[in-house]
Amino acid sequence: MHTATSVPVKTEPPPPRLFEAAHDFDPMDWASVRGQFKLDPALAHLSNFYLCSYPKPVRDAIDFYRDALDRDPHSFLNDNMFARPEQALWRRVAETIARYTGGSFDEIALTGNTTLGLGLVYNGIALRPGQEILTTTHEFYPHYEAVRLAAERYGATLRQVSLYEDSARASVGEMVDRLVSAVGPQTRVLAVTWVHSNFGVVLPITAVSAALAAVNRDRAPEDQVLLVVDGVHGFGVLDEDVARMGCDFFAAGTHKWMLGPHGSGIVWGKAASWARIRPTIPSLMAREPANAWRESRTPAGPVQAAWVSPGGFLAYEHIWAIAEAFRFHERIGRARIAERILALNGALKDGLAQMSHVRLLSPRARELSAGFVCFDVEGIAPKEVALRLRQAGVIANATPYARSCARFSAGIVNSEADIERALAVVRAMR
Ligand SMILES: Cc1ncc(COP(=O)(O)O)c(C=O)c1O
Repeated sequence: MHTATSVPVKTEPPPPRLFEAAHDFDPMDWASVRGQFKLDPALAHLSNFYLCSYPKPVRDAIDFYRDALDRDPHSFLNDNMFARPEQALWRRVAETIARYTGGSFDEIALTGNTTLGLGLVYNGIALRPGQEILTTTHEFYPHYEAVRLAAERYGATLRQVSLYEDSARASVGEMVDRLVSAVGPQTRVLAVTWVHSNFGVVLPITAVSAALAAVNRDRAPEDQVLLVVDGVHGFGVLDEDVARMGCDFFAAGTHKWMLGPHGSGIVWGKAASWARIRPTIPSLMAREPANAWRESRTPAGPVQAAWVSPGGFLAYEHIWAIAEAFRFHERIGRARIAERILALNGALKDGLAQMSHVRLLSPRARELSAGFVCFDVEGIAPKEVALRLRQAGVIANATPYARSCARFSAGIVNSEADIERALAVVRAMR
C-alpha cells in the first residue's frame, strides 16, 4: 500500500539525453582555453598530433557517464542505447559530429581509432583478382598495411606512387597530376592521406577528388574509382567540411587533434559509398541486421554507416563523450582553431628556416600546411634531437618512418612562449 510519502515506480525509461558540460572558459582567450587542460605547465607540449590530453568538458562527460554506468549499468545502457533505438545516444553523438563534418548523421560510423576505420573500409570493399588499389609512398604504417591486407585478401594488386621528391617544395598541381595520372584501367580504389605525418605535407583532397571525378565520368559505375582518405591529421586542424571534399570514405581518430576520448574515431562516407561496403563486425547501432537475425533472414536494403560501426558493447562512457569534444571545437570555432594552429606552426617554421644547421622538411606554403613541422638538425640523429628537447622541457618526437626526422606539432594548447622556448633549444644545438 502506498503511503503519502512513497515514491511512485517509473514505468517509462527517461528519454536518452546527451550530457552537456558547462563551458566555463572564454573561447576567445587562448590562455583560458589552455586552462581547460591538465597538461603539466612546466613543459612545452609540442606533440599535439599524438594522443590528446582531455579538455575539461570531455573529462566531465566521461566522468558523468562512468558514474551513471557504475550506479546501474543495465538500466543506463538499456535506456540510452536499446530501449528507444530512434533516440539512442549514439545517434545524438553522430548528429553532433555531423554539424562539424557537414552532411548528415547517418553518413557516420563510430569506430575506435583511425586504424580500425581504415581496416573496416578496406576489408569491406570487395575487389576482384586483377583489380588494383593505388596508394602513395607517403602513407603511414596503418594505412599502408590496411591496403596491403585488403589486396592480399582479394587477390588485388597494390601500386604506390610518389607525389613529390622534395617535401619542402611539394606543389598542389604536381601532387594531383602525379596521383591522378597514375590511375589505370584496373584501379578501383585510390588510397591517400590528407596530411602526411612523415613531413607534414597537406594533400588537397578537394582537388584530388575533382580530378578523379573527371576520370570516373567516363567509367561504368562498377569500374569507378573510390577515393579513401586517412584524414586524421587534418580533422580538428583544418577548416573544411569533410562532406564537401568529394571523397568516398574519410577515416579519422577523434583522440588526437579533435581532443576526444581515447579509443574513439569515425568513418564518414557517402550513402552510395556505404552501399558498396560489406560490414566486417556485427553492429549494435543498426536495427536491420539484428532484426534480420531474429527473423531468420538476411539483412535487407543497402548497407549503411551504422551497419559498419563495430559492436558489441563498447566503452560507452568514451563513445558518448565524443560529442563534448565536437562541442568544444564548435564553441571555439573551427576557423579560429585552424588559424591558430597554422600561425603557431608557421612561427616554428619561420624560426627553424633561419637556422643554418637546420633543414626544414615541411612546406611553408599555407595551402600545404597543417599542424606538423618536420626538420633535420645537422649532425644530430632525430631521436637525439627529441631527447635533448625533452631534457629541456620541450615535448617533440622523432618520426617512426624509415626516413626519420625530428617533428614538432603545435596545437591550441600552445602559446607563443612555447614556440620561442622550442626554437631556443634547437638554436643551441648548433
Ligand atoms: C597518418 C596517420 N594515420 C593513422 C594514424 C593512426 O591513428 P590511430 O591511432 O587513430 O589509429 C597515425 C598516427 O599518428 C598517422 O600519423
